[in-house]
Amino acid sequence: MQQLEQYQELLAPIHQFLQCPTPTQWVDEARKPENLKTVLIDHLLCELKAGQSAMYLIRKYAVDKSSAHSLLDWFKPYEDFAYRGKGSLETLKGKSNISKAIMAKSDSPYSQDLIDKMVLLIKEELHHFYQVLEIMDERGIDYEPIPASRYAKGLLSNMATHEPQTLIDKLIIGAYIEARSCERFAKLAPYMDEDIAKFYVSLLRSEARHYQDYLVLAEEIAGKDISERVAMFGRVEAELISSADSDFKFHSGIPALA
Ligand SMILES: [Fe+2]
Ligand SMILES: [Fe+2]
Repeated sequence: MQQLEQYQELLAPIHQFLQCPTPTQWVDEARKPENLKTVLIDHLLCELKAGQSAMYLIRKYAVDKSSAHSLLDWFKPYEDFAYRGKGSLETLKGKSNISKAIMAKSDSPYSQDLIDKMVLLIKEELHHFYQVLEIMDERGIDYEPIPASRYAKGLLSNMATHEPQTLIDKLIIGAYIEARSCERFAKLAPYMDEDIAKFYVSLLRSEARHYQDYLVLAEEIAGKDISERVAMFGRVEAELISSADSDFKFHSGIPALA
């Protein structure tokens, strides 16, 4: 795919960060037309979950009370759609922007930088959510809720239970999920129809920045070398990606024969 060539520079650090590439067996499964619905719905929900994780992170660690309310209100229409069967492509139109400024609480040890990076990330994930829904709509694929894969749960189960390590771990996990998503969009794009391929390629730049932002924030907040911790999560992540998985989703492992 010619479009992809210009992204090699952007993908190189991601390939270096991830401890294994996506197995070809996963790509073979994901490109099957009968799996398109699962790929799109799971992607849709991943965009929402990416936004929610960032939102809960700044709610817990950084923002003032009125901003915490605004953040919940911002997500309401998306959560209504995904979990309560309310709303549609029409009602979600233009909702990915937040009108109110999100401010740090006065006693927060974390900088406005954490908030600004996460608010931008949330805007982008919610916009991606809308874009996936548009693609589904064009193809007559109706939304229905599907359960999450083992992937995020598997990563989060290794998170420390004491601060500030919990926060640092959440940021490292965020970096892995973003990096893997970016790698998979690039891997899958050449096998998808033109519209979806274009859309996947258009996601590479923001997902690569999200990976970078999470990693830099983890390093800044830790204030010390975290390479061992990063490598540990890298091993867990690679195991989830390269071991047999009976479930098929966007972040699943090697498809196990049914
Ligand atoms: Fe996204
Ligand atoms: Fe992202």
